[in-house]
Amino acid sequence: MNYPKINSLKTLDAFQSRLDELEIQIPLDAAMQSGDAAPLAQSCDWNGGTIGNRFAILPMEGWDGTTDGRPTDLTRRRWKHFGLSGAKLIWGGEAVAVRHDGRANPNQLVINADNLAEIEALRTLLVDTHREHFGQVDDLLVGLQLTHSGRFARPNDKKRLEPRVAYRHQVLDAKFGVDSDAAILSDDELDRLVDDFVAASKLAQQAGYAFVDVKHCHGYLGHELLSGYDRPGKYGGSFENRTRFLRSIVDGIRSEAAGLQIGTRISIFDFIPFEPGPEGLGRPSRTGEYRSAFGGDGTGVGYDLTEPSRLMQLLEELGIQLVCSTVGSPYYCPHIQRPAIFPPSDGYAPPEDPLVGVARQINATAMLKRAHPNLLFVGSGYTYLQDWLPNVGQAVVQQGLADFIGLGRMVLSYPELPADVIAGRTMPRKKICRTFSECTTGPRNGMISGCFPLDPFYKAMPERQQIMALKQQTRA
Ligand SMILES: Cc1cc2nc3c(=O)[nH]c(=O)nc-3n(C[C@H](O)[C@H](O)[C@H](O)COP(=O)(O)O)c2cc1C
Ligand code: SF4
Repeated sequence: MNYPKINSLKTLDAFQSRLDELEIQIPLDAAMQSGDAAPLAQSCDWNGGTIGNRFAILPMEGWDGTTDGRPTDLTRRRWKHFGLSGAKLIWGGEAVAVRHDGRANPNQLVINADNLAEIEALRTLLVDTHREHFGQVDDLLVGLQLTHSGRFARPNDKKRLEPRVAYRHQVLDAKFGVDSDAAILSDDELDRLVDDFVAASKLAQQAGYAFVDVKHCHGYLGHELLSGYDRPGKYGGSFENRTRFLRSIVDGIRSEAAGLQIGTRISIFDFIPFEPGPEGLGRPSRTGEYRSAFGGDGTGVGYDLTEPSRLMQLLEELGIQLVCSTVGSPYYCPHIQRPAIFPPSDGYAPPEDPLVGVARQINATAMLKRAHPNLLFVGSGYTYLQDWLPNVGQAVVQQGLADFIGLGRMVLSYPELPADVIAGRTMPRKKICRTFSECTTGPRNGMISGCFPLDPFYKAMPERQQIMALKQQTRA
């Protein structure tokens, strides 16, 4: 399926016509504003102070830590870029495991007493870089994303999954190597994991992070528990039980790390796992009713925000104001999670114009924001908009559809985007992420991540050649 590339939609009218053709709504401002009065430059008050503008950097790991969970120079380079971006909200930096068995790969960062100084140094590097470029840092909010990778854990060997799951799954078990109930985390094990999240949060506070993100997205453990409709026991079944993990961690943080703020990144809806069909085009792996999607409508390919909205209500009751909305999972429905024109090597050709995926995320987030105006929402999935990202971001913020524009892949190829947009500088076209997906293909094949096609630093690496060779093989 050939969809028009964004860089071929050279005028606002051409872009708008494409949206009309697709019959989707994406808010779009014709004129960009810059300087202190610009909508994207406005500060935002929250219950912990002030955040200096409306750009957020989404968490992005690089598969480049040491095997004992410490950052390397590559990790530090990425965090430095987050600091020089000009964004005033750093949502989590990257997924950091609360303990060894929860690592998504043997090079994921781990937070523990031994590594703490280096985890702290990442934050200070980011803050110092930000100060150097922008002067003010009292309006810069930096959090740390805490995770257990659950079904997608590979703590010891890049090639060996060691999944720990919330429940047996009709499609994912076969795809991700679960063949017995032994992989299911028992209630007692989850109780201990709650303690590990609380201990990790205490350490994050000691390291100076203003908030922790108790990660509930992308099919990792926290997110999977939300869809444990058929799981027996105290962590499954009812809404109360499925949110017990989150509530218990929040309770623990409140008593053990008083003053530490809490946020959560949530897949606000999910789809059934997709697979390549004829000619590699993505299609749902099953037809019929699908029960395992939190925020799903039962079809596997639609959403119903009744439960996610209830979860937002719960966050308000728990005194959590910061929410980062994302959707689905990069492992089983990447086209909804990170819309891209080129699929990663383990993916499938996009079954819809990626703009449809962008619109879906923007509109679902807006629905939750409308229903819960006191929560502060960071939206995700904007990178595919490319040249039109600023015009959409400004309109989203102006219209109050989200409070912050979260940047993922775009910041790997073009870290200075927020500062450039706010200053009214022209975006250099050669830095704009064109969603080649090489930053996902690398790690899927045991390599580090980075923007291999556009960032000269990664372009010069041998991994770039390996990825090119992989692409040739896939095409052959
Ligand atoms: C290389 C890479 C690493 C990522 N790592 C994380 C992560 O550690 N934690 C997380 O919540 N999301 C992670 N994501 C997802 C992004 O935060 C974001 O949701 C996604 O890329 C869509 O936003 P975008 O369209 O701006 O790229 C990662 C994405 C990429 C491409
Ligand atoms: S490799 Fe670079 S251009 Fe490709 S999706 Fe990632 S950030 Fe974008």
